[in-house]
Amino acid sequence: MMKSMACGYLNELNEEQKNAVTHTGSPLLILAGAGSGKTKTLTYRAMYMVETGVVKPESLLLVTFTNKAASEMRERVSKASKMDLPNVGTFHSTAARILRKKACEVGLVRDFVIYDTQDTQDLIKEIMGELNMDVKRFRPGAILSNISSAKQEMITPNEYQALARGVFQEVVANVYTRYQQLLLKYGAVDFDDLLFYVARLFREHPEILRQYQAMFEHIYVDEYQDTNTVQYQLTKLLNGER
Ligand SMILES: Nc1ncnc2c1ncn2[C@@H]1O[C@H](COP(=O)(O)OP(=O)(O)OP(=O)(O)O)[C@@H](O)[C@H]1O
Ligand SMILES: [Mg+2]
Repeated sequence: MMKSMACGYLNELNEEQKNAVTHTGSPLLILAGAGSGKTKTLTYRAMYMVETGVVKPESLLLVTFTNKAASEMRERVSKASKMDLPNVGTFHSTAARILRKKACEVGLVRDFVIYDTQDTQDLIKEIMGELNMDVKRFRPGAILSNISSAKQEMITPNEYQALARGVFQEVVANVYTRYQQLLLKYGAVDFDDLLFYVARLFREHPEILRQYQAMFEHIYVDEYQDTNTVQYQLTKLLNGER
């Protein structure tokens, strides 16, 4: 039975959307076409679950595709329900917050810096210079994008070394290895590291994973079909055996 009063906004939704908003129990996967109202449904579901007391605002993790979508959702919910959802963000912002608290557990300095694209490009060029590599023959951007893909697939430098075939991949393997060494030395992580480190944190520290599993009773992921390997692993780990 739907609680009425406060939840008048449900009338804005069609029947299928309402069902998705009020569904409880088993995990729910919403599949619908482009522009059909999936994100809206997810936002309303968050609002509904919080307003009806099914879940506390701080126990809900809502993963959005962009920072802009995150702030729009947060704003919408706080306007409609006067409640603040502290855990709405992208995979990266969520991972960054977790990593800030648990940096030491994965061998990072507590005040690690997050490198942007320019910083990482510069670092790759520095390494290529150090290794006497020709930036005309092997483009830094191409190397970086291969490193990024490897991290998204949760492939470590050692694993990459073992898998590398052909001249280009050998180059990437060497740069990747040095790149991680220098990031550590500089107390830095790149965007992909944020996710990779948290995935490793959860795998290597079951007690920390359990802490976050208990914290996030409800996990909603927008654009779930676009999750890559590390994002899928993080979602699966956090979700646990539910
Ligand atoms: N039941 C509804 N009645 C009226 N407007 C709606 C309804 N559901 C969604 N909309 C509107 O349709 C537009 C698209 O909605 P939304 O962004 O939630 O769709 P989406 O499925 O997430 O799209 P995308 O595939 O691009 O991510 C928005 O402007 C939203 O407000
Ligand atoms: Mg959407």
